Amino acid sequence: MSTTIRKAREEDWRKIYELYASLDEEDLYLRFFHFYRMSEEEAKELAKGKDHVTFLAEVDGKVVGEATLYNNGEFSLVVDRGYRGRGIGTLLVRRVIEEARAMGIELVKFYTLSENYPMVVLAKKLGFFLSFNEDEVKGELKLKVLCVNS
Ligand SMILES: CC(C)(COP(=O)(O)OP(=O)(O)OC[C@H]1O[C@@H](n2cnc3c(N)ncnc32)[C@H](O)[C@@H]1OP(=O)(O)O)[C@@H](O)C(=O)NCCC(=O)NCCS
Repeated sequence: MSTTIRKAREEDWRKIYELYASLDEEDLYLRFFHFYRMSEEEAKELAKGKDHVTFLAEVDGKVVGEATLYNNGEFSLVVDRGYRGRGIGTLLVRRVIEEARAMGIELVKFYTLSENYPMVVLAKKLGFFLSFNEDEVKGELKLKVLCVNS
């Protein structure tokens, strides 16, 4: 199995649309915090990346995961159920962190449900600080700003 993490391109919109069309209600809720069916237009917007950067995880050419980082440092992701537990979510979040650093973002953050055990485990492993509030959890990771003296 060869997994590739790469930035989404405009022409990827259909692959993104198909990934989202294949998700069940629970996954859609965890990804967007509400039940949501993505339209073709919205998939195109996501692929375009105006105020965000979207990464895709591909396994043997099939898109099986997506992570989006917004300019304010917030990100969210999803991995196809058939491909979970193989480190793809971890690879996507590592790539998000790398991109955020390159963009000069000082804090990356995500929100999810406290019961979302895989995301909680993943975030702890990568050093996120987690604050639990009723049924929600917020994860934050401070990034060191690289100073370049010219
Ligand atoms: C959260 C999510 C992205 C993780 O994706 P993944 O590809 O399974 O992630 P990884 O394989 O890197 O696993 C992360 C950790 O969770 C653990 N894990 C995965 N599935 C698990 C499960 N069902 N039960 C317990 N632990 C689980 C893994 O063991 C791993 O820990 P480890 O590295 O110490 O073994 C995926 O579960 C998902 O898409 N969930 C629905 C959408 C969502 O919750 N998005 C997050 C919103 S911010």
